[in-house]
Amino acid sequence: MTGEHVIHARDLNVYYGQLHVLKDITVAIPRSKITAIIGPSGCGKSTLLRSFNRLLETMDNVRLAGSVRLGPQDVYAPGVDVTLIRKKMGLLAQRPFPLPMSIYENVAFGPRLHGIRNRRALDRLVEDNLQLTGLWSEVRDRLHTPAVELSIGQQQRLCLARGLAVEPEVILADEPTSALDPQSSRRIEECFRHLKDRYSIVMVTHILRQARRLADYILFLYMGELVEHGPAEQMFNAPRRELTREYVQGVIS
Ligand SMILES: Nc1ncnc2c1ncn2[C@@H]1O[C@H](COP(=O)(O)OP(=O)(O)OP(=O)(O)O)[C@@H](O)[C@H]1O
Ligand SMILES: [Mg+2]
Repeated sequence: MTGEHVIHARDLNVYYGQLHVLKDITVAIPRSKITAIIGPSGCGKSTLLRSFNRLLETMDNVRLAGSVRLGPQDVYAPGVDVTLIRKKMGLLAQRPFPLPMSIYENVAFGPRLHGIRNRRALDRLVEDNLQLTGLWSEVRDRLHTPAVELSIGQQQRLCLARGLAVEPEVILADEPTSALDPQSSRRIEECFRHLKDRYSIVMVTHILRQARRLADYILFLYMGELVEHGPAEQMFNAPRRELTREYVQGVIS
């Protein structure tokens, strides 16, 4: 898939019951870059992320209006295969949730589900995706032991490998390092830097230093509105809006 942008949201509005949590969001997410969604707690960051791959509709009090496109595809069009959408845009959650099976089976799970049966092909996929997340050298001798025996940081990289194994276009990550120690957080950040050539990454973070270290592009949300978005360099050093300046300088939080 080519094109400068991977996701387009247009006039997106989201309500939880009476609560209007996302207001007229129109934005394009750059391809093969790391985009960070920043803003104060409760401003709608997770909601925006989850609107991209239709994870919001797992809740029953949600209403969404407007459109989201992945490349040319209208994500909310009638008849769209939601499973396929979520395969193309996998979510890495705040905490790792390894499946209750071995390290190997965690990574092979998605490919198996999508019809890959050949043992050699699966072995290859497991190794490649564990390599991508820097886990291979750490776990190659214990691939068939339970995934839950890994450290939390390793489990998070395993969950990333599991998501990558189904060949997504976009990795959505909601505060993916918030449950991790600093060193494990750095490992995830390194993974993202390596992965961004092949995948577009959209991450929520409330850590401004992390956004500065990692992000190429920034979306600043405040009380459900997209106040400003732009290249990270501009957003941190020469924001157009006073509110953005106050937020990135830590005057408001
Ligand atoms: N299932 C829900 N039902 C009702 N209100 C909700 C629900 N989920 C979130 N909200 C509310 O919607 C608003 C946006 O929530 P959201 O989780 O998107 O914010 P956030 O920016 O991710 O916050 P945080 O930084 O604390 O994770 C908040 O006011 C929140 O309380
Ligand atoms: Mg959140």
